[in-house]
Amino acid sequence: MEENIEIRDVKDPNEIKRFEDIQYRVWGGGVVPSHLITAVKEVGGVVKGAYYNDKLIGFVYGFIGRYKGRYCIYSHQLAVLPQYQNMGVGEKLKNEQMRWGIENGYDLIIWTFDPARAKNAWLNIGKLGVITDTYLIDHYGEMEDELNRGVPSDRFMVEWWIKSRWIKDRMRYRYDRDLDIKYETVLSLERSSNGIYPSNVKDVNDNYISIEIPLDFDDLGGDTLKLKKMWKLRLREAFIKYFTKGYTVIYFVRGHNIDKGIYILKKGFDPHDRTTW
Ligand SMILES: CC(C)(COP(=O)(O)OP(=O)(O)OC[C@H]1O[C@@H](n2cnc3c(N)ncnc32)[C@H](O)[C@@H]1OP(=O)(O)O)[C@@H](O)C(=O)NCCC(=O)NCCS
Repeated sequence: MEENIEIRDVKDPNEIKRFEDIQYRVWGGGVVPSHLITAVKEVGGVVKGAYYNDKLIGFVYGFIGRYKGRYCIYSHQLAVLPQYQNMGVGEKLKNEQMRWGIENGYDLIIWTFDPARAKNAWLNIGKLGVITDTYLIDHYGEMEDELNRGVPSDRFMVEWWIKSRWIKDRMRYRYDRDLDIKYETVLSLERSSNGIYPSNVKDVNDNYISIEIPLDFDDLGGDTLKLKKMWKLRLREAFIKYFTKGYTVIYFVRGHNIDKGIYILKKGFDPHDRTTW
């Protein structure tokens, strides 16, 4: 399968129209109209499609923005049709976006993602090496699509420093189960007959700390919508507390025999200064 995937520029507006159908099938609503994406392509943005045997199965697009005082690429949507997910297509699209960014003189790509979603955390932090110290409360307001309905749209703003030593090192070695770091867990995942729920947030000052999340946010057992809201608010409390104290999310660990995802945060981290890693 992998060798039959091709990533290429999408230039034809009729082809970009097909992004709407993919969005509908991936998110179940909240579709960004294709004419906006065509405009992005026209004014210096990056619009890439993933093709399997010439069939469009996913896309990523981003436009030029300004963040923390510098020009960067803001990547607004990444989507892969459900039947082609978990085969490395999302990673290929992002890597092509990175290649384009470096070629066009950018050193930073940013985007948002939902901190409660383990798969996105693994792809973004575990596989691609993004970092974050920015938590956005209810960033998109109420959302009506199937993935986001009924819970606050809190997001991380993540930073992908595509020319940094940090990324070069992270591309060379992917940490998963074997991350050899001592950390204190400040929010842990608890299980009961009523479902999977978050612990209270602990107050610590260790160099490394961790925050746990469920692997499947759509299946928490018990009253899932109530538990989802509880998770969202507890994660908000934990991340804001520790971002305010100067911590940055730098790793995400998940494993087949660890039935949860684990964010690892480090105090005083700077991707450009190796002495802080
Ligand atoms: C996010 C998305 C684009 C990723 O595309 P993809 O092609 O599935 O991504 P990849 O296959 O490159 O990477 C997914 C990784 O997550 C892993 N994964 C799957 N479910 C997981 C879970 N519940 N917890 C942790 N990791 C998980 C996969 O095993 C894979 O990792 P691996 O390559 O180490 O095995 C796709 O899932 C999607 O369209 N999701 C819905 C829309 C969305 O969330 N878009 C991003 C925000 S705009």
